[in-house]
Amino acid sequence: MKNQIKIESPIKPFKKQIEVSSDKSLSIRCLLLSSIALGKSKIYNLLESEDVNNTLKVIKKLGVNYIKKEKFIEVHGVGINGFKIKNNTIIDAGNSGTLARLIMGLCSGNEKKLKIIGDDSLSKRDFSRVITPLNLFGVQILSNKNLLPIEMCGSNLLRPIIYEEKKGSAQIKTCIIFSAINTHGVTKIKALHSRNHTELLLKYLNYPIKIKKQKNYDLIELQGLNQFRSFDYKIPGDISSASFFITLTLLSKDSELLIKNINLNPSRIGILKILKKMNAKIKILNIKNYKGELVGNIKIKSTRRLKSINCPASLNSATIDEFLLIFLIAAKSKGISIFKELGELNKKESPRLDVAIKFLKMIGIKTKRVKNNIKIYGNPELKLNGKYHVKNFLKDHRVFMMSAIAALTLDGHWTIDDKDSINTSFPNFLRIVKNFGAKIN
Ligand code: S3P
Repeated sequence: MKNQIKIESPIKPFKKQIEVSSDKSLSIRCLLLSSIALGKSKIYNLLESEDVNNTLKVIKKLGVNYIKKEKFIEVHGVGINGFKIKNNTIIDAGNSGTLARLIMGLCSGNEKKLKIIGDDSLSKRDFSRVITPLNLFGVQILSNKNLLPIEMCGSNLLRPIIYEEKKGSAQIKTCIIFSAINTHGVTKIKALHSRNHTELLLKYLNYPIKIKKQKNYDLIELQGLNQFRSFDYKIPGDISSASFFITLTLLSKDSELLIKNINLNPSRIGILKILKKMNAKIKILNIKNYKGELVGNIKIKSTRRLKSINCPASLNSATIDEFLLIFLIAAKSKGISIFKELGELNKKESPRLDVAIKFLKMIGIKTKRVKNNIKIYGNPELKLNGKYHVKNFLKDHRVFMMSAIAALTLDGHWTIDDKDSINTSFPNFLRIVKNFGAKIN
């Protein structure tokens, strides 16, 4: 099959310095916010991937022009309420939950009928999480039992809401913030901690938003209908993409890696906090503040004596896209690792908690699951020699890349399906791995 890779031998020790692809969450947010800014924004280092290309296609459909220049993309913002939408416009979000949910918030002030569609994976994901708050604002929504396709009709007479976001989802929080921007008056959100790029961007843009940090949640208040000016932004590297190479280094022998220019927003670096507790040799260097975001380098060394973790659920949201890798590392660590309240993991591009448990079973690692809590019985001596085939039915990019890292560090003969899935978030992934000397067919 053409869209497969085969890995038959582990990677040899390496000492490298790399940069990974740009941050996906920031790329999508910068495009969406620049499309409703007043004037021309310049976005440097925009991630080149399918989710971001779909975002570009969507803003074009909403009447926003952009020009791709050599070093940046220039977005010609139309201001709040400036979209020119034809009735029955179809918005195709492809594989991206972030795009689908954020665009629904962004278009909530629009009175034309929009239809939101997505690929097979996105069409299995729950939208009640954004339909409920958007209905409260006054948006009319028709869905197929809370799944895509969705038809929505916004209004220019939305009313502000008071809402409690209890899942720790930045997609829900940002959808509400985007809808609040289209709404006259003050919207108040009590949101369980989740990535806060949108809030930081709005603060940087001097948008009237107030954030009060509490222990587990934020209290957010924002004033709607406040026009803001265009901006320039240089997107740093994505910690979620860097994590594949952090894992590769930790689990390889005698290797060392420096990953440069990574977004180190505290709401994203759960993986670094967890790995430190597991004894991983990781250092953060050269931290700088860039327009409210922390950016720096990460140095990693192979670590032989990794130990298990009893992971506090308070780290779940900051680690949400990295759990497949954390589980793989737990499988190679001494002792029993415990992870709790991971229901949200089954709401991703594929049901990743179920997928992970199957995967760990396939490589001979014992797990125990009670509801959405799992125990992983680590084996530091784990070394494989059988044949392993990862089918990846929902073409999940993170399942593909985690499997490749497993194959490169655990031995065995591997076939991994759906190579093209990397285009969603990290098109350069295989090129970088090959550059490390990995043999991949
Ligand atoms: C994202 C938020 C997370 C994450 C996704 C990107 C974002 O989802 O899993 O890959 O950019 O807001 P949830 O906020 O729904 O957990």
